[in-house]
Amino acid sequence: MLTAVAWPYANGPRHIGHVSGFGVPSDVFSRYQRMAGNRVLMVSGTDEHGTPITVQADKEGLTPQQTADKYTRQIGSDLQGLGLSYDLFTRTTTGNHAEVTQQIFLALHRNGYVVPKTTTGAISPSTGRTLPDRYIEGTCPICGYDGARGDQCDNCGNQLDPTDLINPRSRINGETPKFVETEHLFLDLPAFTETLGKWLSTRTDWRPNVLKFTKNLVDDMRPRPITRDLDWGVKVPLDGWRDQPLKRFYVWFDAVIGYFSASVEWARRSGDADAWQQWWTNPDARGYYFMGKDNITFHAQIWPALLLGHNGAGDRGGEIGKYGTLNLPDEIVSSEFLTMSGSKFSTSRGTVIYVHDFLREFGPDSLRYFISVAGPETQDTDFTWDEFVRRTNFELANEWGNLVNRSISMAHKNNGAIPAPTKPAPADEELKAVSRRAFETVGGHLSRSRFKLAATEAMRVVSAANRYLSDQEPWKLKDDPERRDAVLHTALQVVSDANTLLTPFLPHAAQKVHEALGGTGVWAAQPELKDVEDLDIPGRVNPILTGNYAGEQARWESTPVEVGRPLAKPTPLFAKLDPKLGETGPEWAPIERAE
Ligand code: MF3
Ligand code: ZN
Repeated sequence: MLTAVAWPYANGPRHIGHVSGFGVPSDVFSRYQRMAGNRVLMVSGTDEHGTPITVQADKEGLTPQQTADKYTRQIGSDLQGLGLSYDLFTRTTTGNHAEVTQQIFLALHRNGYVVPKTTTGAISPSTGRTLPDRYIEGTCPICGYDGARGDQCDNCGNQLDPTDLINPRSRINGETPKFVETEHLFLDLPAFTETLGKWLSTRTDWRPNVLKFTKNLVDDMRPRPITRDLDWGVKVPLDGWRDQPLKRFYVWFDAVIGYFSASVEWARRSGDADAWQQWWTNPDARGYYFMGKDNITFHAQIWPALLLGHNGAGDRGGEIGKYGTLNLPDEIVSSEFLTMSGSKFSTSRGTVIYVHDFLREFGPDSLRYFISVAGPETQDTDFTWDEFVRRTNFELANEWGNLVNRSISMAHKNNGAIPAPTKPAPADEELKAVSRRAFETVGGHLSRSRFKLAATEAMRVVSAANRYLSDQEPWKLKDDPERRDAVLHTALQVVSDANTLLTPFLPHAAQKVHEALGGTGVWAAQPELKDVEDLDIPGRVNPILTGNYAGEQARWESTPVEVGRPLAKPTPLFAKLDPKLGETGPEWAPIERAE
C-alpha cells in the first residue's frame, strides 16, 4: 500500500485548507491500513522548485534555496504537530530527487516521448527579463475566471499556457507581456492517447468528482512543455541543455516524480536500497494518491503518462526504463476546497488560519476530527468556528470524552482495576456486538476513503455506549456490585473498541485512552522531525519527517480488556471550548463581521 501525498510548496506555512486536502485524509487512511495489517509506505515532501518558490523568494529578499530551507522546516513542524505519519517526508532539492528525475526523463526521452519545440515565451518589456508563466495573470479562456495564471486556472483547475490567457498582464507590475520565441522540451501527450485512455476507462471506482474530471482528459491531449525559462529547478541532462543557465524542468514535472524518488530515498535510508520495489514494481501493491482538486490533472494524466513512457508502454512502445515497470496510481483521492465564506481558502485571498496557530490553541485531534467529519470530502465546504466549536464540544468532549471519563472513573472508584463481567445480561452482549460489527463497517468506509461516513459510524458506537450507561445506571447499583461490575466491564470493553475505531482520526487522544485503560507502550506512533545529511550532496542537511510505525500496538480489531488491570483516575480528554469562540473566532483569526 503506497500512500502518496501531494507535496506542499515550500512557500509559506500551511493553513488548514491545505491540510484538509492532502494531509489529514492521507494520514487517517494510512493509519487505518497499518492497523489492518497492510504494509504502508507513506511518502511526500516539500515542493521546492519553480516560480511558486522564486516569487516568494523575491518577496522576502531571499534566495530560492533559503526560502525553501525556511519553509520546509516550518511545514515539517506543522505536519509533525498534526501527527501525520509519513514514512518519509523529504524535499525536492535533495541530490537523490534530481538524480531520479533525470533518470525518468532520460527513459522518456530514449523512448521518444519527449519532443523539442519552439514556442513563445513571455518577457517583460520594461526589464527584458523572462516572465515565468506563474507571473502572468489574465482571464481563463475556459471558465472566464479573471484571476487565472499563466500555468493554471485555480477556478476550473485546467492547465494553461500564458498565451491562452485573455488580456494577459504581469503580476509584478501589471504591464502587458511581450511574447518571444524560445525552445522547450515537451511531453508528447498525444502519444499516450490510446494507452492512457484505455487505462483511464478502467478507473470506474474513483470518487465521482475525480471521474467527472478525468472523463474528458483524453480529448485534450496536447503536448505539454516540461521545461521552463528559469534558473531554479532540476537541470535537463542533455547536451546543449545541461549548461544553459535558464533552462530547467518545469516544477510539476519533477514534483510528481517525487512520489517515486522519495520512495527510493526512503529505501536508501532504510539500509535496503531496493526496498522501494515492494511498492512500485510489485503488481500486487496498490498506490493511493491524496490531493486537493486543483492537482487532479497532474496525477490522473501527466504522472500516469510519465510512468507509461518510462515503462515503454505508451502508444509508441519502447524499452522498460531504468527502474523496471513502475505501477500506475490505483486511486486518486481528491478533496474539494475548504473555503471561508465562499472564497478558496488560500493565502493569496483574505483570511488565513495557520496550522501552527491552530495546534497551539486547540491541539491536533480536534482539527483532524473536524476535517474528517466535516471537511471538503466531495464538495467545497465552508469552515466556520461555530461548527468547529459545536463538533468539539458535543461530539468530542460530551460524547466521547465523557464516555471515557465516566466509565474509567467509576471503575477506578469502585474497583481500582478493570472489573470482571460476573453477572452478564443480554444488553451487554448487544452493545458489544454493535462495536464488534463497527470494525467491518468503519473499516470498509476507510478503505474506500469515505472519511465522513467512517467517522460518523465510529461515533455511533460511542452514542450507543452512552445510551447503554444511561439505561444500566451503574451508579445506582450499589446493592448489586456484581451486576455493576459487569456493566462497567462492558463499558470499558466498548471504550477500548471505540478507541481503536477512532485511532485513525484521533491518534493522540487514542494513546491517552490506551494509557487510561492501563495500557503501556506505544498505541499509535507519531512522526519525528529530524535533521539528516543529504545522501548525495556533501554538507547539506535536510529536515525530514519519519517514524517507527511498525512498533505501534494498534490493530483493527476488538482487543479483550484485561480483568484486574489497574486503572488510574482519568484526566479529561478534550477541553470544552467557550461557545463565544463560535461567534468571534480566536484573536489570531477573528471573524470579520459584514456590517
Ligand atoms: N505543490 C503542489 C500544490 O501545492 C502539489 C504538488 S503534488 C506533487 O498544488 F506531487 F506533484 F508534487
Ligand atoms: Zn478556468
